[in-house]
Amino acid sequence: MQHEQKSFYHDSGSRDRGNDIGIIGLGTMGGSLALNIAEKGFLVSIWDQNPDKAMSVYASAGAMRKSLHPVQTLSNFILSLRSPRTVLLMVPAGEPVDAVLRLLQPHLDVGDIVIDAGNSNFHDTNCRAETLDAIGLRYMGVGVSGGEAGARRGPAIMAGGDLDAWEHVKPIFEAIAARYGALPCAAHVGNDGAGHLVKAVHNGIEYADMQLIAEASGLLTRGLKLGYRASGAVFEDWNNGPLQSYLIEITSKIFKETDPETGKPLLDVILDCAEQKGTGRWTAIEALNLGVPAGVISAAVDFRFLSARPAERKDGQFVFSGSGAQLCAEDLSIADIEAALIAGKIISYTQGFQLIQEAADDNGWDIDLASVARIWRNGCIIRSAMLDEMASALAGAPGKSLMRSAYFAQQLSQTIPNLRKVARAGIQAGQPIPALMAALAYFDTARTSRCTANVIQAQRDYFGAHGFMRTDQPGTGFRGPWAHEKTRVLATA
Ligand code: 6PG
Repeated sequence: MQHEQKSFYHDSGSRDRGNDIGIIGLGTMGGSLALNIAEKGFLVSIWDQNPDKAMSVYASAGAMRKSLHPVQTLSNFILSLRSPRTVLLMVPAGEPVDAVLRLLQPHLDVGDIVIDAGNSNFHDTNCRAETLDAIGLRYMGVGVSGGEAGARRGPAIMAGGDLDAWEHVKPIFEAIAARYGALPCAAHVGNDGAGHLVKAVHNGIEYADMQLIAEASGLLTRGLKLGYRASGAVFEDWNNGPLQSYLIEITSKIFKETDPETGKPLLDVILDCAEQKGTGRWTAIEALNLGVPAGVISAAVDFRFLSARPAERKDGQFVFSGSGAQLCAEDLSIADIEAALIAGKIISYTQGFQLIQEAADDNGWDIDLASVARIWRNGCIIRSAMLDEMASALAGAPGKSLMRSAYFAQQLSQTIPNLRKVARAGIQAGQPIPALMAALAYFDTARTSRCTANVIQAQRDYFGAHGFMRTDQPGTGFRGPWAHEKTRVLATA
């Protein structure tokens, strides 16, 4: 760390001004963000509890070294920043964020800005914003998507928190963000934890997108018995159509990959147990908390749970015997599967956007859904051509469910027959397609003006005297005839 003084006080020539931003937490994401920011000409102080990490980021900085300043101690780190200080944390969600905040707090002054750019739970961000606001600090929860490559070359940025603080840091975030045409994929979406809520729903949708693609791949390889390479070619072809997206693109590459160790197709040597850090699960939990139907996202989370229980699945195969049934080409075509995937995607995004809207209402945030869709058009993991169409649909019909906007209603009426066909074939062959089926169930329920919940209401009233509303009279708390019967039975007893 010999260069610490030299690089800060001499190389930058910024003694009077101080550095523009400081980054704490120099793992893969933090290090990549630091390099990205330095590359755009901002002066960046970097500090990590493990000094080796700061050194290794600096060592990899090449020409950016003149803008990058590893600092040895937290107090020097703070001293190196211009006022109001901007400190960005890229540390694991949960207690590590609180631990760094406790370390930082005594060093900061009123008006300083602290940004949590990790995948924090938005409820935690709400609490931290409240606590720090009370002592005059400006706290931002910022969702950053795009993985390591995105952080280095251009992520999508969903900023939440103090609006003045956002205005202050906007030039940095807009400079490092991915571009859609000339527009930066970065925006302030709302106060407090709004950025982290939007990022969590992004990840829930990411789980659903990945699940829908995995189900489609099962239909191609296990159903239609296409080989990996042929399936890879199908995904490649789909990537030139309405499904064009980063996840379809990487799937086409994954299917063509060979394992260098064994020479087998790579997918054959990867264990079929999906892991998760938890943001998709938070999305499903939030949907349950708020009573928002989000079955496609929940199905994707559930599938990961069951996939991660290989012993149970193995035993299940032994007890019930695996289906192994093949879909025949007359039952299903590749075009059917593509259309089913389009329908599933529209429905899962409909649920995701509705969840953002209702979480926003619940928290008093004014989140512009069209702006969220615009941020997601590039840089993030779920980037896709369809998001541009979604941005237009949401801007054109604010407050309307995505799937009922004119454009997507039309898309759905064209693709639902294929989804129905795919579901039928999957069910018949015993091929699990939980997210596709959840999408179809949602669609069918959402277009039924009189559904079967009258039966549920009657049952609730019968066993629990919960009452119901009537179709022919206003008011609540009506009882069924069994109410008198029960009173009679009780009286006789
Ligand atoms: C992103 C991703 C990222 C996420 C990983 C893994 O937007 O860059 O969503 O934030 O953490 O993709 O997530 P899981 O471990 O939960 O699958």
